Amino acid sequence: MDLSATAIATPNIALIKYWGKEDEKLIIPKNSSISITLDESLSTKTSVLFSSSLKEDIFYINGEKQDLSNNEVKERFNIINMLRQEANVNEHVAVVSENNFPTAAGLASSASGISAMVFAASKALSLNKSLFELGIIARQGSGSSCRSLAGGFVKWEKGSRKDGLDSSIRQIAPSSHWPEIIDIIAIASKSKKKIPSRSGMKQTVETSILYKARPEYAEEACISMEKAILSKDFESLALLTMRDSNNMHALMLDTWPPIIYLNQTSLEIIGEIQNLNQSMGKLVAAYTFDAGPNAHIITTKEHEKEIRNILEGIDGVESIISAGIGNGPRLLGEKDSIIEKYIKL
Ligand code: DP6
Repeated sequence: MDLSATAIATPNIALIKYWGKEDEKLIIPKNSSISITLDESLSTKTSVLFSSSLKEDIFYINGEKQDLSNNEVKERFNIINMLRQEANVNEHVAVVSENNFPTAAGLASSASGISAMVFAASKALSLNKSLFELGIIARQGSGSSCRSLAGGFVKWEKGSRKDGLDSSIRQIAPSSHWPEIIDIIAIASKSKKKIPSRSGMKQTVETSILYKARPEYAEEACISMEKAILSKDFESLALLTMRDSNNMHALMLDTWPPIIYLNQTSLEIIGEIQNLNQSMGKLVAAYTFDAGPNAHIITTKEHEKEIRNILEGIDGVESIISAGIGNGPRLLGEKDSIIEKYIKL
C-alpha cells in the first residue's frame, strides 16, 4: 500500500514573538504569539510517502540525508510517528523536503518545513484534521511552525491546559484583509545560526533576570496587535512589532551566557529604519529579527522601493527578498512529488 502527498508551505514572521516554553516536552509556550504567514516568495516543498517498499524511515532536506538517530532530528520527526499511529499505518515513511531559501539563517525554514510535513503527511494518511488540530501536532515538532498552517495573520494561543490540547492557532484575518503589507528581508548572514532557538530560549527562561516580565507583557501585546491588525492601524502594528523584537533581543542579551543574534549590519538597519520613520513624521516601516541577524522590514507596498534602496546601501546586506502575505499551505498533485529525485523505490 502506498500513501503519498506533496505540499508547499511558507515561513511566517512573528510580530509578537514566542521565546520560552511552559512545557519543554509538549512545546507549550509561556506566551501567545502573532505572525504573518508569508507568500511563496519563500517556500518549502515536501513530499511524504508511506510505502511497504521502504526498508526504513528516510528523511531528506535539500538533498541531504538526515540522521534519524540524532536527537534534534528525532524530536522534529516524531510528529510523523504521531500521525502514523493515529492513522494505524505501519509502513515506513520517506519525507523529502526542499527549501528555496537558506536553511537555518534565521528565516524560519523549520516553520515552513514542519508545517509542509504535517500538512502533507495528514493528507497522505487521509486524516481529516482541522487546522487547529494540525497546529497541536506541528507545535510539537517546532513551536513557531504551527503558525504557518494558516494564511494571513495568525495567533498561536498559548492555552491553559496542562496537556496542551488548547495550545494552537487561530486565524485573525486572511491575507485579503490587508494585502498591502509586505516583508522585506535583508539577509545579513547566510551562515547557520550558532545557538539553536530551542536551547537558546531554555537558557533565557532559566537565567534572564528580565524574563519574568515578558509573559504578561507579551500576552497584552498580542491583544493590542490583534486590534491593530483588525483596524489596519499600521503605526500601532509597527510600534508593537519593533518593541517586541527589541524586548526579545534584550532578554537574549540578559541571558547567561549571553545570546547575541544581531550583528553590526542588523544594528545599522535598526538605525536606518528609525531615521526613515523620523523623516516621514510617522511610522511607515518596522524592523523585526528572529533568532538570527537577518532583518524583516514590515511595511506597505508603497514604501518597498525606498526601503530596498536604503537596505542596498547598508554594509553587510548580502541580498534582499520581498515577500507578501500568503494563504498557508497547499496540496500539490501526484506529478509534483520529489520523492524519486532522491530515493530509488
Ligand atoms: C525567535 O519555533 O524554532 O523565531 O519550538 O524550540 O522548535 P522550538 O523553537 P522555534 O522558535 C522560534 C523563535 C522565534 C520567534 C517566533 O517565531 O515566534
